[in-house]
Amino acid sequence: MSIVYLNGQFMPIDEAKISPLDRGFLFGDGIYEVIPAYDGKTVGLEPHMQRMFDGMAAIGIKSELTLDDWKQIIEGVMEKNGGGNQGIYLQISRGADVKRYHAFPEGVTPTIFAMANPIKPAVEANAATAKGFSVATTQDLRWQRCQIKSTALLGNVLHFQQGYEGGNDEILLYNDQDNLTEASSSNAFIVKDGKVITPIQDNQILPGITRNIILSILEKDGSIPVEVRDISMEEVRNADEIWVTSSSKELAPVTTIDGQAVGNGKVGPVWEAAFKLYTAGKFEY
Ligand code: PDD
Repeated sequence: MSIVYLNGQFMPIDEAKISPLDRGFLFGDGIYEVIPAYDGKTVGLEPHMQRMFDGMAAIGIKSELTLDDWKQIIEGVMEKNGGGNQGIYLQISRGADVKRYHAFPEGVTPTIFAMANPIKPAVEANAATAKGFSVATTQDLRWQRCQIKSTALLGNVLHFQQGYEGGNDEILLYNDQDNLTEASSSNAFIVKDGKVITPIQDNQILPGITRNIILSILEKDGSIPVEVRDISMEEVRNADEIWVTSSSKELAPVTTIDGQAVGNGKVGPVWEAAFKLYTAGKFEY
C-alpha cells in the first residue's frame, strides 16, 4: 500500500483522512504540483517548488513550510514508496473551516498532502519507435487565470474527457481569437520548416516546467531555432510536427489532429533531436 504524507505525518494511504469542510474538497481552493523522478532523480524540483510558491502567493495561501521542508517531504514519499520512477504529487489547500463560506477563513491551517505514484520509464528519443499521440481540438473554456496551478481542474477535466471519449490522448485548446493556448493537461508546441514555435507565457497557459526546461535547453544548444509567439489554429493544422509537454509525458509527439495526419503522419525528426537534448539535459534542472 502506498505511503502518503498528510499534515506532518507519513501514513498508509487508507489512513489519510481529510475533513469534508476542507476548502480543497468544497471549493477546489488549493494549489498542486506534479514532479517527475527517474531512478530516484527529480526533474525540475526547484522550478516546480517555485511555481507552487508563486501559486500560493497568487491565491493568498500562507504556509510555514520552507523549501527544505518540502524537499524532505518529497524525499520521504519517494523513499517510502520504493524510489525508482515516481510522479510526486504535492497539494496544499487553504484548510478546513468550521462552516462552508466563500470568504477566506481566519486562522485556519493549510492542509498539506503528498504522494508518489509509479510512472513508466522515460521513452527513448527515437522517432522510429516512439508512440504518436492523437489529439482533438476545442475552444478553451477554462478560466482566465490558467497560469495558476489550481486544484480546481473541472475545466481541464471536461476538456480532457471530451478528447478521451473520442479516443484521443489529449485535446488542444484555442482561444476566441482562434489561437492555440495549450492542451487540457499539457503545454503545446508546433514545428514548421525546422523551427519550434510555442505560445507566449501569459494568463492563458500554465507555466509548464517541462516547456520551460525544453525552451532553455534548445536555446542553450542553439541548433534548433525557437520562436515564442501567438499561433493560429490554421498554423497548427498545417504544422510539420506538433508536440505536447508535461511532467508525466515529457515531450510527446502528436501524429493525428482531429483524425487528420500531422505533417506526413509520422513522428518527426525535430522531435527526435529536441527530445535527445532534453533527455541528456533534464536532470540539470
Ligand atoms: N499537468 N498545462 C496544463 C493545463 C497542465 O495541467 C500541465 C501539467 C501542463 C504541463 O506542466 P508541467 O510541464 O509543469 O508538468 C501544462 C500535470 C502533469 C497534471 O495535472 O497531472
